[in-house]
Amino acid sequence: MSCPFAGSTAVAPTSAPLATALPGTYPEAVNNRYRSIEDPALVRRILQRPEDFTPANALDTAIDLEPAALRVLAAERFFLPPVLASAGGAAHLAVRRIVARFFSPARVAAQAEPIRARVAGICAALAADYRNGARVDLAAHLAAVIPPEVMARLTGIPVPPAADLKAWSLDSLELFWGWPDAARQRELAASAAGFHAWLRTSVAQAVARDDGNLYAALHQGGVDLDRIRSLGYFLTIAGQETTAMLISTTLAAALHGGRWDSCAQESAAAQLVARSLARASSVPTWRRVVRADIELDGVRFAAGEQLVLRLSGGALMEDGDDDSLAFGFGIHRCLGAGLARMETEVVLHTAARALPGLNPAGGEPDWMHLLSFQWPRTVFSSWPGAGVAA
Ligand code: HEM
Repeated sequence: MSCPFAGSTAVAPTSAPLATALPGTYPEAVNNRYRSIEDPALVRRILQRPEDFTPANALDTAIDLEPAALRVLAAERFFLPPVLASAGGAAHLAVRRIVARFFSPARVAAQAEPIRARVAGICAALAADYRNGARVDLAAHLAAVIPPEVMARLTGIPVPPAADLKAWSLDSLELFWGWPDAARQRELAASAAGFHAWLRTSVAQAVARDDGNLYAALHQGGVDLDRIRSLGYFLTIAGQETTAMLISTTLAAALHGGRWDSCAQESAAAQLVARSLARASSVPTWRRVVRADIELDGVRFAAGEQLVLRLSGGALMEDGDDDSLAFGFGIHRCLGAGLARMETEVVLHTAARALPGLNPAGGEPDWMHLLSFQWPRTVFSSWPGAGVAA
C-alpha cells in the first residue's frame, strides 16, 4: 500500500483504509446494519443533538455475537452498563465532570516533559540497535510504550502488564468493532472476559486504596462498581490504544513521506499530527442511534436507525486538512483530545531530534481497520548504511 502522506500537496491521495467511501470498506453485515453519514456538516449537526441521536450504541458489538461467545462472556458476568461515552443526560454529565478533572489542560501540560525524557531515553537505547543495522519497529518500541505510562500517572490506576494490555485492547476492539466469525468470536470473548476479570480486581483495589485515584473519585461521586468497571474497560482502550495507533500512523507518515528530519521542529511535528487526524485518524468514525423519526437539514432518519459518522478522511481532507471532528463534537467530545495530540507531537519531534536520518524499512505500512479504528500494524525503520563494515 502507498503512504497516506506521500508527496507534498495538501490533497495527496491516502491509503488509510477508512479514508474513502465507508460502505466500500465495510463488509455486507455492517452495511446492512449501519447507515454511513459522510457529510461533515451533517455529522456536526448530528453530534450537536445527543438527545435525538444518542450514543447508546457506542459500546455495542458491530455485529451480533454467536451464542457460544455470549456464554463465554456470561460465565465472567461480563457487563458494560451505560456510562460516559454510552450514557446521556445528567448521568453522563456527572461522570464526565469527574473524569475531566484528571485530564485538565494543566495536568496534561505537566506530562510533556516526562514524555520527552522517556522518549529520549528509549531513542538513546535504540540508537545502538540502529548502528548495528537493526530494523526497529517504532510501533512496538515507542507507540505502544508511552500512552499506558501516561494514563497510569494521570489516573493513579495501574495498567496491566504490557503484553496483556496490548492483547486485551486489540481483542476487545475486534470483538466490539469487528466482524469476527464464530470461532474467532469465542477466542475474543475469552480474552475480553480475562480483561474484565482483571478490571474487577483492579477497580476493587483502587476504590479500597482511596488515594485520590480516578476509580476512587468516581466511587465517591456515587458511581456504582459495575459502571466504574464499564468506564475502566472503555478508558483503558480509548485512552491508550487509540493514542498508540495515532502515534504509529504519524511516525509512519513522517518516515514514508520524507518528513522525518523536518519533524524535529515542533511546529512541523504539530502540523503532521493535525494532518494525520484530518486524513487518517485512529478513530475515523463513531456511532450514534436515532431516538425517534426526525428530519435534519432535509435528511430523514428513522427511529432505531444506527449511524456511522465520518470524523476523518473523505471530504475532511479535500479542501485542506480539517481535523475539527477527529475527537467528536459537542457534549461527548473526547476528554483526551489535548492529551492524545500533545503525546503524539512530543513523541514525534523528540524521536526525530534524537534519531536524525532515519529511513522507513521494508514496504509501505500494513494497515488494519475495524468499524471505527484504523492503524498501521508496524512502523519499521533503519539507518541507511548502518551495520555495514567501514
Ligand atoms: C488519538 C487518540 C484519540 C482519539 C482519536 C479519540 C477519539 C474519540 C472520539 C471520536 C470520541 C467520541 C466523541 C463523541 O461521541 O462525540 C471519544 C470519546 C472519548 N474519549 Fe477519546 N480519543 C482518543 C484518545 C483519548 C484519550 C487519551 C482519552 C483519555 C482521557 C480519551 C477519553 C475519551 C472519553 C472519556 C470519551 C467519552 C467522552 C464523553 O462521552 O463525554 N480519548 N474519543
